[in-house]
Amino acid sequence: MKKLGTAVVGTGFWGKNHARVYGELESTELVAVCDVNRERAKAVADQFGVKAYTSSSRMLKNEEIEAVSVCTWSTKLAKEALKALKAGRNVLVEKPMATHTKQAERLLDIAESNGLHLTVGFLMRFIPGLRHIREAVENKKIGELVCATAKRVSQWPERIGDVGVVKDTAIHDIDVVRFISGEDPMSVYAKTGSMRHRKFEDYAQIMLTFEDGKSAFIESNWITPYKTRILTVTGSEAIMRLDYITQELWIEDAKENLQPRFPWQEPLKLELQHFADCILEKKKPVITGVDGLKALKIAEAALRSSAKNKVVKLK
Ligand SMILES: NC(=O)c1ccc[n+]([C@@H]2O[C@H](COP(=O)([O-])OP(=O)(O)OC[C@H]3O[C@@H](n4cnc5c(N)ncnc54)[C@H](O)[C@@H]3O)[C@@H](O)[C@H]2O)c1
Repeated sequence: MKKLGTAVVGTGFWGKNHARVYGELESTELVAVCDVNRERAKAVADQFGVKAYTSSSRMLKNEEIEAVSVCTWSTKLAKEALKALKAGRNVLVEKPMATHTKQAERLLDIAESNGLHLTVGFLMRFIPGLRHIREAVENKKIGELVCATAKRVSQWPERIGDVGVVKDTAIHDIDVVRFISGEDPMSVYAKTGSMRHRKFEDYAQIMLTFEDGKSAFIESNWITPYKTRILTVTGSEAIMRLDYITQELWIEDAKENLQPRFPWQEPLKLELQHFADCILEKKKPVITGVDGLKALKIAEAALRSSAKNKVVKLK
C-alpha cells in the first residue's frame, strides 16, 4: 500500500506529536519537518529520521509531501496553511486556524479552488465519549437538549503568548457545543479579563444561546492551579458528563447512573488517521474549514461582547 507523504510545520510542544503520529500510522509516512527554530527542527527530524527545514517554502518543493500539519504559533497558522494550500498540499491547520476570520476565509477559498482537503485541529471531536454524547443528543436518548456547560481551566502555559484564552482554549468548546447541538448559536455574551497575562485575556466566561431556549456556558481560564476539562450536557431526561482527560463518561437519569466504558484512545492518532483516510479515500473530513471559520467568528464575537458589555447577535 502506498503511504501518504506528510510533513509538519512547527515542531514545538504539539507539532512534535503530529510528527510522531505520522511516523506511527500504517497509512502515513513522515517525510520532513520544518521549524523556524533550527535546533527544534533538527532535533525532531533526527528523532524520526527525516529531513529538517527552517523554510516551509523550501520544504514544500519536495514532491513526496502530499499533506501538511500546520502547528506553528497561532498567529502564524494562517500564513503557513496558505503557503501549503497554494503549493497544492492538503492541510490540517491547528486551532484557532487563523487570528482573524478574513484569513480563515481566504484559506477556505484557496482550498476549494485547488480541490484540497482543509481541516482544523479540533481534537475533542475524536474523543470517543464526545461522539457518544453527540449520538445521544441526536437520537434524543437524553430527551430534549437543554444546555451544555464546559469547563476548561488550568495554569497559563506561558509558551502561548500570541493569542488569549478565548482563541486558544475556549475555541475547543465553542466547536464542541456546535458539534453536539448540530446548530449554530444565535447570540453570545461574554465576560473576559486578564489577571496575569500582559497582552491578552486569561479568563473568559461565555454564554451562547441557541434556538428553542437551548444554551451553553463555557468557562475557560489560565488562572486555575489545577487542570480540569469537563463537559456536562443536560437533557430533559438525563445528564451526561465527560472528563476529557480520563475520557470517562457518566450518564445519569432519575433511575440509574451508568458509566459506559470506551477503551482509552489517543485522540491525535484518531484525528490524523481520519485526515489521511479522507485524502486517500477522497472523503469529506468530519471537521471542515467552515467549522474552523464558524468557531473563530464566535470567538471574535465573544471578545467583542466582552469589550462592549453587550449581547452580540450571530445570526
Ligand atoms: N488541538 C489541540 O489540542 C492543540 C494542543 C496544543 C497546541 N495546539 C495548537 O498547536 C499550535 C502550536 O502550539 P504549541 O503549544 O506546540 O506551541 P510551541 O510554541 O511549543 O510551538 C510552536 C512552534 O512553531 C514554530 N514556528 C512559529 N512560526 C513558524 C513558522 N512560520 N514556520 C515554522 N515554524 C514556526 C516555533 O518556533 C515553535 O517551535 C498552536 O496553534 C496551538 O493552538 C493545539
